Amino acid sequence: MNQLKSITNGFLIFSLIFTAVSCKNQKKDTNEIIESKEMSTIEKKEFGTTNNDEKVSLYTLTNDNGMKVEIMTLGGIITSLTAPDKNGTYADVVLGFDVLEPYLEAHPYFGALIGRYGNRIANGKFALDGVEYKLTSDGSTQLHGGRVGFDKAVWTVLNAAVIDGVATLKLKYISKDGEEGYPGKLESIVTYTLDDEDTVQVQYEATTDKKTVVNLTQHSYFNLSGDFSKDILDHEVMINADTYTPVDTGLIPTGEIAMVEGTPFDFRTPKAVGKEINADNEQIKNGGGYDHNWVLTNQNDGIRLVASAYHPTSGRLLEVFSSEPGIQFYTGNFLDATLPGKNGGTYDKRSGLCMETQHYPDSPNKPNFPSTELRPGEKYTTTTSFKFSIK
Ligand code: BGC
Repeated sequence: MNQLKSITNGFLIFSLIFTAVSCKNQKKDTNEIIESKEMSTIEKKEFGTTNNDEKVSLYTLTNDNGMKVEIMTLGGIITSLTAPDKNGTYADVVLGFDVLEPYLEAHPYFGALIGRYGNRIANGKFALDGVEYKLTSDGSTQLHGGRVGFDKAVWTVLNAAVIDGVATLKLKYISKDGEEGYPGKLESIVTYTLDDEDTVQVQYEATTDKKTVVNLTQHSYFNLSGDFSKDILDHEVMINADTYTPVDTGLIPTGEIAMVEGTPFDFRTPKAVGKEINADNEQIKNGGGYDHNWVLTNQNDGIRLVASAYHPTSGRLLEVFSSEPGIQFYTGNFLDATLPGKNGGTYDKRSGLCMETQHYPDSPNKPNFPSTELRPGEKYTTTTSFKFSIK
């Protein structure tokens, strides 16, 4: 039995090395297997260097079923994630690039960790204890943490190992006091795991040395068809929310909490994304489709099912579990076929959908929204899981 196990393991390690070495766009031929127990593995390879000559590594987490998630140290970006369809065929279901270079340029945050503040802060400013903080931004609004957000930082690897049979990657980034205009040195730790239930979990932790605001999220664009030339309008989405936060034409929440009932924003029972995305509705027009924050139910329940997306043709189901009070459901309205796809095509409008678990946009300027403040001595902790299955 043990002999059989070691032969199987030996074969597995050989195949993993072989797959990695023959993988296209790989910068180097060396692929380091960090740890391998049974089938779950975590591997590392070099992925290139940033414009500041910082080395970027790419980690591949694999579970017992053969599902794979690739995450790089630049921005903690998920560059690929495979999930099986109803015939057991695995396909990559997240938008991204084949190589490092386009990730170094401006892009719509494909697969990235977002910080210090996910989504928009109006007029790029807020006040804490009577002190106003002016944030960096390319216009008046700050989006996703500023000009050089956490998505552009090279994160340090604290641990890359198979822990209790689960491939685990623990990343850390220290954001300096004043970085992108925010007060306090913020130390963030994000732990990614891939378990044998086909769940990718993202656990966020942060501490500060001065009162600040923080709102971290994950910005993967999913297309469960596995074919990025198709749009996501046929995906059936559920969002566990009775209300949402309407926005102005600049996508800043008005502060109102509005009922979803009787509007295109009602996803309490699953409905095709395309069903009402072009409805004659002011909020749909402001968002250019769906680009809003939903106020999730059962906010005091900790981690619970908050949303799902189902692709009927392939049978792939994504369920999102989170401890967060809100979710930005974004339907890739600004994608415009200018960015190179992994399969040689380009990413067209609505070729991906995002489910960004979060606190509400512009909370630092909206006293009626749940607070995003973090004080010295406190610990920010949130968890979100993306679970894949077939239906
Ligand atoms: C925002 C969109 C934005 C996208 C990419 C989403 O979180 O809500 O408005 O275009 O991120 O930056």
